[in-house]
Amino acid sequence: MARPFYLTTPIYYVNDAPHIGHAYTTIVGDAVSRWHRLLGEDVFFLTGTDEHGLKIVRAAEANGVSPLEQADRTSARFLQAWRQLDISYDDFIRTTEPRHGRAVGALLQAIYDNGHIELDSYEGLYCVACEAYYVEADLVEGLCPIHRRPVEAFAEENYFFRLSRFRQPLLDWFTTHPDCIRPEAKRNEALGLIRAGLDDISISRTSISWGVPVPWDPAHVFYVWYDALVNYATAIGYGEDDGRFERWWPAVHHLIGKDILRFHCVYWPAMLLAAGVDPPRRIQVHGYLLVSGEKMSKTAFNQIAPADLVTDFGVDGYRYHFLRDIPLGADGDFSFEGMLARYNADLANNLGNLLSRVATIVAKKCGGTGPAPSPDSPLAPVAASAYRDAADAWERMATSEALDATWRLVREANAHLEANEPWKAEPGPAVDAVLGSALEVLRIVAVLASPAMPGACAELWRRLGLTGRPDDQRLPEAAGWGGYPGGLPVDKGGPLFPRLQPA
Ligand code: MSP
Repeated sequence: MARPFYLTTPIYYVNDAPHIGHAYTTIVGDAVSRWHRLLGEDVFFLTGTDEHGLKIVRAAEANGVSPLEQADRTSARFLQAWRQLDISYDDFIRTTEPRHGRAVGALLQAIYDNGHIELDSYEGLYCVACEAYYVEADLVEGLCPIHRRPVEAFAEENYFFRLSRFRQPLLDWFTTHPDCIRPEAKRNEALGLIRAGLDDISISRTSISWGVPVPWDPAHVFYVWYDALVNYATAIGYGEDDGRFERWWPAVHHLIGKDILRFHCVYWPAMLLAAGVDPPRRIQVHGYLLVSGEKMSKTAFNQIAPADLVTDFGVDGYRYHFLRDIPLGADGDFSFEGMLARYNADLANNLGNLLSRVATIVAKKCGGTGPAPSPDSPLAPVAASAYRDAADAWERMATSEALDATWRLVREANAHLEANEPWKAEPGPAVDAVLGSALEVLRIVAVLASPAMPGACAELWRRLGLTGRPDDQRLPEAAGWGGYPGGLPVDKGGPLFPRLQPA
């Protein structure tokens, strides 16, 4: 049976429309999932929406609709954005679905039955934007340290998860599983939080009813985060289909932004340990996508919707830019000029020109029929090393490095054409060898870049005269030199990536 690979994105709050920050995480997840499908693994890629909590209730009130209507409308907008961005999710979970309520009940009941949840009274300072409690010392100038807005004082009788008991088990887990949190700096941040000591956490509320009821005390609903985190277990049948759950669970990879590290790297693994389930195999943390140096937010009026950029750059141009220019882990600044420069350099010029040049010369010198590559082309070792480096980078979800390695091959193929000038030579075996090798590079690039640009790579594949689709190929075989058979009709077509002018 193929190796299971389970990848999740965070589930997005439905108080607000999708923006390029949400799209960034989702595109990284999608591209990584597509890479693993090329490797022949059995991939399950999950995304969805987080629909409970006070934030949603308030947004619904502001919009004059019920919380469920608010959730329905906004969830539909996420689905629409993901369809537009060619996101190949295997499941889209909504936390208001009955299956999710059942899984939350089952997982938290297991923690309760194991004696790690108890009733207690609670007073705290709550930030609705974070859906999180703070203590006075966390605040910056009296405001939420993340949103810089006032917090609200709450006093309630709540169920508490005895997180404090999990300090040592968590430290032990992360010591015996040193790769569990990536990158290393984020692992250290999580270890720092755990070592500093963990307070018990309030996990239920009675002041709102928009949530999943606590199974043993339905006057309470679970506080949104403890319902939301369980989505990763719901989608693979926790509590309902043990065989299915056990197939995927050990292989789970969570992709998250750095804003939700504490929930994923401390609370969630502790909840799982408390329920008798192993923590996730990998939590991959990435930075913020900034706009002019600032985090996007509704209040700063600096949110950009993916659709605004897709109009200019196309879906593939959009995806390529974010995957190539935002190194996973660090914060990245979005700029329209940077996106335009990247698009023109890598797509319109490097890749687009390689195809159009080769197709033009094949039309002129080979009657439009692509020759086979030469087995001893100097490009063969370049392709092999590009594949090795790209594969290593995709494994680490380092999308920027993976695409950089792939474009090294594109640049070398352009340089090889320039050095050999097949447009000047008489038709014959020498010209065929150069052109066939360039076509072979294009074939390999169509496969290696297909996780980033599924549509454009399928079109490139078609223009090379190949049948099927690049994303139906299997690695590593499809990256091996000599796969382009020759004798196929090469279709020049219009520019694959039309050059864009600055506005
Ligand atoms: N609903 C919670 C997550 C629950 S997961 C069990 C939540 N939702 S969110 O919509 O506010 O943000 C979710 C994720 O969107 C972030 O962790 C991050 O991955 C992504 N991003 C949101 N804004 C972003 C940027 N400005 N930049 C990069 N990623 C951003 O938190």
